[in-house]
Amino acid sequence: MARIVGAMTTSHVPSIGIAMDTGITHDPYWKPLFDGYAPAKDFVRDLAPDITIVIYNDHGLEVFLDRVPTFGIAAAERYESGDEGWGPRRIPPFQGDPAFSWHLIEHLVADEFDLSMFQEWQVDHGFSVPMSIAFGGRSGEIAAWPTRVVPVVVNTIQFPLPQPLRCFKLGQAIRRAVQAWPGDERVLILGTGGMSHQLQGERAGFMHPPFDRMFLDMIGPDPEALTRIPLGTYMKEAGHEGAELIMWLVARGAMGAHVREVYKHYHVSASLTAAGLGCYVEA
Ligand code: DHB
Ligand code: FE
Repeated sequence: MARIVGAMTTSHVPSIGIAMDTGITHDPYWKPLFDGYAPAKDFVRDLAPDITIVIYNDHGLEVFLDRVPTFGIAAAERYESGDEGWGPRRIPPFQGDPAFSWHLIEHLVADEFDLSMFQEWQVDHGFSVPMSIAFGGRSGEIAAWPTRVVPVVVNTIQFPLPQPLRCFKLGQAIRRAVQAWPGDERVLILGTGGMSHQLQGERAGFMHPPFDRMFLDMIGPDPEALTRIPLGTYMKEAGHEGAELIMWLVARGAMGAHVREVYKHYHVSASLTAAGLGCYVEA
């Protein structure tokens, strides 16, 4: 039985990756954010995951508005960092685990999650930035990632989006699938997106720390309460892109009923986003 050894949840702002890749993380603007990431990196290193399941949303790199799966899993040998308009990040490719991905797909479909499956897939900032936060790996820093990966994508772009409760249940189903795998791999869950931010429209630049802090306080002890908040309320309280927090609920669902928060960090702002991070193990 493979074992979920912990979860990390973090915002996935593109410019966090650019700050790492261009070596400006000690600049006054970025230093408080990156200082807060150091304990999370230690947490992940100590967990030594063989496989990292990354819950994120594609932002138009692989799927555009004409064809958007609600949920999907990639099952490729490797994943390159794609070009989102400012050039691909110069980081090593991510090594996949097709057999493990297919196991998850088969198990989830049997468990009534009828998701899409991708045999070729490039990853965007939603994936690569959290991986760099968790493992290091700015341009040139590492020759290879110390973990195999499984990209799990959730639609947070094109309405209708999946409901918070459905996302939590997806996480629970991922947990059952991992536990049904015959190997003894150590699995890290990496939930991405959020916290409050809105990138367009009249409220572009909107951030809402009281909502974020409430979410950070609740996700460990009472995630069910967060699943009862309607999706529209997430958008009202955390901004349109703040709805990405539903992917933190996938990650939380993949953990056991009781978790211990090992570390959290919150910093306003990174670009247009209130940046949050949490590290959890089973209690
Ligand atoms: C920003 C945040 C995001 O979550 C994203 O996907 C793109 C940009 C930002 O704050 O710049
Ligand atoms: Fe995003």
